[in-house]
Amino acid sequence: MKYFLDSAKIDEIREAYDAFGIDGVTTNPNHIMNSGKPFYTVIAELAAFVREKGIEGWETFPVSVEIDPHLDDADAMIAMAEKISAMSKSFVIKIPCTEAGIAAARRLEQKGVRTNLTLVFSASQALIAAKNGSLFVSPFIGWKENSGEDCVDYIRDIVEIYENYDYLGKTQIICAAVRNGKQIVDCAVAGADIVTAGLQVFKDSFYHPFTDYGLQKFQAAWDNTITEA
Ligand code: E4P
Repeated sequence: MKYFLDSAKIDEIREAYDAFGIDGVTTNPNHIMNSGKPFYTVIAELAAFVREKGIEGWETFPVSVEIDPHLDDADAMIAMAEKISAMSKSFVIKIPCTEAGIAAARRLEQKGVRTNLTLVFSASQALIAAKNGSLFVSPFIGWKENSGEDCVDYIRDIVEIYENYDYLGKTQIICAAVRNGKQIVDCAVAGADIVTAGLQVFKDSFYHPFTDYGLQKFQAAWDNTITEA
């Protein structure tokens, strides 16, 4: 399973890449806002990062960048997507799963601009993303579970549909808005390709108190082992 970092902060992306080898990045307008920098400044930094690391390319290190969420016309979406896409071979264009967004993503994929259909909340939305050849589909997990829905069957259904029609791997499933280790495991068990989450979510998922407990126990044993004469 691949891990993408959901962030637009270069220091976080650098830490996650260097420390535990994330496989890509996803951003959204919230993350851009939280970076405290203007949109094109942030994405120019992201483009520079992949170049510096020698990993530029959607095949090697995809970076999803979302278009202006006010756009509601396919032609305008395509124009902005093409402008962003020209800035880096790593950029995959995040398009909302609306009627106009679906049409725009279809046309962009036909032109060779890779897309990530986002704000996906149903298996039928995930199906149209794959039918139209999007590189990624982003079913949101955390938002649904916050409102009381269990997402295990939701992700399993998408995986099964993709298996039935040979879309699996061609349109890669990014489980998005993932909030904890349990959700990461649920997505992995269901067969999703990727999870995207914030840095702290990944760090928390690596932590277990028994690991600390075990370390203390072994440190005590180490300290009480007789030494060579
Ligand atoms: C995913 O691609 C999105 O960027 C993200 O997960 C959206 O949700 P959040 O900002 O609530 O985590």
